[in-house]
Amino acid sequence: MREKQGQPSGERFKIPEALIRQLRSARHIAVLTGAGTSAESGVPTFRDAQTGLWAQYSPEELATPEAFRRNPRLVWEWYQWRRERVSQAKPNPGHLALARMESLVPKFTLITQNVDGLHHEAGSKGVLELHGNIRRTKCFTENSIVDSWRATPKIPPRCPRCGGLLRPDVVWFGESLPAEILNEAEAAARSCDVFLSVGTSSVVFPAAALPHSALAVGATVIEINPTPTELAADAAWSFAAASGEFLPVLLSATWPEC
Ligand code: OAD
Repeated sequence: MREKQGQPSGERFKIPEALIRQLRSARHIAVLTGAGTSAESGVPTFRDAQTGLWAQYSPEELATPEAFRRNPRLVWEWYQWRRERVSQAKPNPGHLALARMESLVPKFTLITQNVDGLHHEAGSKGVLELHGNIRRTKCFTENSIVDSWRATPKIPPRCPRCGGLLRPDVVWFGESLPAEILNEAEAAARSCDVFLSVGTSSVVFPAAALPHSALAVGATVIEINPTPTELAADAAWSFAAASGEFLPVLLSATWPEC
């Protein structure tokens, strides 16, 4: 059965019986999340993030090694601003529903493009962070994690070991994703029976290829996004909905006993 839009009903969303059956019988559910999953926590999506002082820069101009080489202070300060937004954010009902779902299926793999750490804060275990984590810092020269450094008026601060510039431990445009994490994500996409794509614009590769790996092995792919993406054409179900509203309904419709 291929049903395109899951229709809102008297109970906000009507979850198709066939989907409930598939989720309940799934041996392995894989989930890919993007910035939309954190939108209801007040973390602006990547493409909506530029406001105020930062409106004149596009993320693509700031999130690259070249931008950092050109103007490390500007890039550090931009991430510092984003870090502050993230530190004030709390997991929303969508994050919490995914953390709960993990305990209800035999195998569950949560893959995220988000760098905000909110899935972990919601209680999800072993989250595969494809694009790093903004709360961590690393040395631009040595590429190793740095936990603390000497307070200094210099921006960015320097690596206590080698004196190199410090940068956020996130993947920038033009950089490779952490190979082991990407391999695990691909393996999960190729071995799951159900794959949920949640709150991602499905345009940034290699993450955007993961639902297609799942489709290639016959998994049921479901998209949840208020603005359906290109993936909707291939998905078994596409729900035009905010994840913080939809995922709790999906959870309670599928596992009413939980
Ligand atoms: P984007 O900002 O490209 O897309 C966010 C998606 O979330 C859009 O498709 C929105 O329609 C959707 N959305 C908005 N509000 C939502 C809500 N309440 N519930 C569900 N969905 C909602 O973010 P990503 O797809 O995550 O990479 O972008 C992928 C990567 O592009 C990011 O990780 C970042 C950027 O380059 C790096 O920083 C390396």
